[in-house]
Amino acid sequence: KNIVILISGGGSNMAAIVRAAQRDNWRKGLGAEVKAVISNRADAGGLAFAREQGLAAEVVDHKPFPSREAFDEALATAIDAHAPALVVLAGFMRILTPAFVERYRGRLVNIHPSLLPAFPGLHTHQRALEAGCRFGGATVHQVTADLDHGPILEQAVVPVLPGDTPEALAARVLTQEHLIYPRAIAHFLRQAA
Ligand code: GRF
Repeated sequence: KNIVILISGGGSNMAAIVRAAQRDNWRKGLGAEVKAVISNRADAGGLAFAREQGLAAEVVDHKPFPSREAFDEALATAIDAHAPALVVLAGFMRILTPAFVERYRGRLVNIHPSLLPAFPGLHTHQRALEAGCRFGGATVHQVTADLDHGPILEQAVVPVLPGDTPEALAARVLTQEHLIYPRAIAHFLRQAA
């Protein structure tokens, strides 16, 4: 089962998934393998890691495209070249069109740095602190046309600590993201088999 991961930035979640996928239980047990990492930004830090790991590391820059639809078409062409059983969004910061979401229905997952359905969208940690939340967290979910609202696959909870800044909370959540995302993907692939 081929996996394609989409990123826009540092790619630490992508790296956690790639490392998990290098283990025997993924390769032999699940028959799963990360084939490619695709970024919409040429300067995404994660691309270097992907290259070092011997993966296809590709850029589909959104900027030259006249519309979201045109970008998504080009993105889908790049993705489909790897015949993925699963497309993983890992810090991919573009909103996808309904046509794209439909094309990958049942094989498209995302991670969001909040306890969904609370705080979909951007600036989740700042909003959680402003709301006085005692807990933050992260959610792995299936992607539907409704942004950050698909069926939940996995969640992790972290405490909000006195004096927390959005950055401190984000870092605490991110360490949990690295644990739950590979686990959720393995579970999802096992169920889909
Ligand atoms: C993560 O917090 C993810 O949940 C959010 O963006 C961040 C990406 O981090 N959507 P990285 O690129 O995986 O390091």
